[in-house]
Amino acid sequence: MNNILANWWRSYQFEKALSQDDRHQAQQILQKILSSGARLSHLERLFQENQKLVQTNQELKQRQKHLLTVRRTLANSNFLPSVSELIRDISDKFKIERIEQNLIQCTGIDRRIFSPLEAIISDFLEKELLGIQEPSRTANFRTALQDLYGLKRGLDPNYSSQLSPHLYLIKYFLENVYCTYLAWFFVYQQGLLPSRIAILDVAAGPGTVAYGLSLFLQSCCQRMFLPDLHISYSSLEKQKTFQYRGLQVWRRYADSQTTPIPFYFQFLTQDIFEYAKNSSKIARKFFDFVVISHCFFADLAHRRQAFQIYQQIFEKHLKPDGCVFLIIQSRKLYKFYNLRPEQIQCDREERLVREFLNEMGLRLKNYIYISSTGSRTFRKKEFYQFAKSRLPKYESMRTIHHQYLGIKRDLHYAVDDYIILAQR
Ligand SMILES: C[S@@+](CC[C@H](N)C(=O)[O-])C[C@H]1O[C@@H](n2cnc3c(N)ncnc32)[C@H](O)[C@@H]1O
Repeated sequence: MNNILANWWRSYQFEKALSQDDRHQAQQILQKILSSGARLSHLERLFQENQKLVQTNQELKQRQKHLLTVRRTLANSNFLPSVSELIRDISDKFKIERIEQNLIQCTGIDRRIFSPLEAIISDFLEKELLGIQEPSRTANFRTALQDLYGLKRGLDPNYSSQLSPHLYLIKYFLENVYCTYLAWFFVYQQGLLPSRIAILDVAAGPGTVAYGLSLFLQSCCQRMFLPDLHISYSSLEKQKTFQYRGLQVWRRYADSQTTPIPFYFQFLTQDIFEYAKNSSKIARKFFDFVVISHCFFADLAHRRQAFQIYQQIFEKHLKPDGCVFLIIQSRKLYKFYNLRPEQIQCDREERLVREFLNEMGLRLKNYIYISSTGSRTFRKKEFYQFAKSRLPKYESMRTIHHQYLGIKRDLHYAVDDYIILAQR
């Protein structure tokens, strides 16, 4: 058969198959026509396009089915699944490096997540502080500073001055949010972050731990399907002004997001030293996590008393399989046991952490030391040069740092904390 005849015969067979609605046969003949190199007739081209559409449609349906399965699995699982792409992304952005088994260096930040919050806080503080008349503003600010700087003389601050929450927001808040973000990332990496979660934050300040978690979940949203989250966050704090200011900022922060992470807040304004009087106001055996972040007293008598009360809190309010989550600055931890950083080697460090937990009747689950410098013995004098070349700068807060702390140089996000997960 010559080519013209062969082409005509195939086209005839193709049309016949179509008229009998035998699409399978038509597809096979179309393949033959395509391999012969013959030009396609109008009908053959239409059929070819139609077949492509059918295939795409099938693929989409399959993908949709797969997504539904993933969503269903997520909804049924109690814990957020470990997604390697997310872990890699966060590790890259925060420049996280493992120096030793339990020592992690972190020198980066995710600006997409942190800059908007920083801008909200600086805007909030500017408006709030400008609304206070002079000389009252300067006088109150000085009182708050004096209270806070008691720390340098080994005195625990009271945080009771009118401007203590503002000072805290200026000086420590964002750095502590940065630290708690990393702490939640650590919990997540171990597969211990539930999608329905109840947190009791002891000595919560403006709600630092809730902010850290919310920012971390914002990162998750960008890389994975989040199941329906239910986050119940209870702040146990003696200064209601801290709770109030924290909530004012939260409203602005939540408003700025297209899909805010749903948090259900409860505010318990209580002094932990009066826990015995107030314990019935806190839900029993309810919390997945009891968090104590940066509230370990310098005064020995207070610290011992607080440890006993913390122990009662864990016993009464933690779920049977719940976790205790402690965040403490390295220098503070070493000082409690009269140790110098040079004395801390791996096994000594673990014994130290266990000793610390023992005082609260806890068992170690896991811990890491996160440090910007990656070293336990970095000298304070050299820190600024290091920070200048390696650490992320504050952006919107710069003017406030200058105006209210009198600091003309840039300040940087830094971390130097033990993050400890424990159980009763
Ligand atoms: C250093 S701040 C830590 C705040 C927050 N947890 C963080 O990591 O950013 C200490 C907080 O503990 C609170 N606090 C101090 N003594 C307390 C007590 N006896 N009872 C309850 N809260 C207390 C202070 O009011 C302050 O908000």
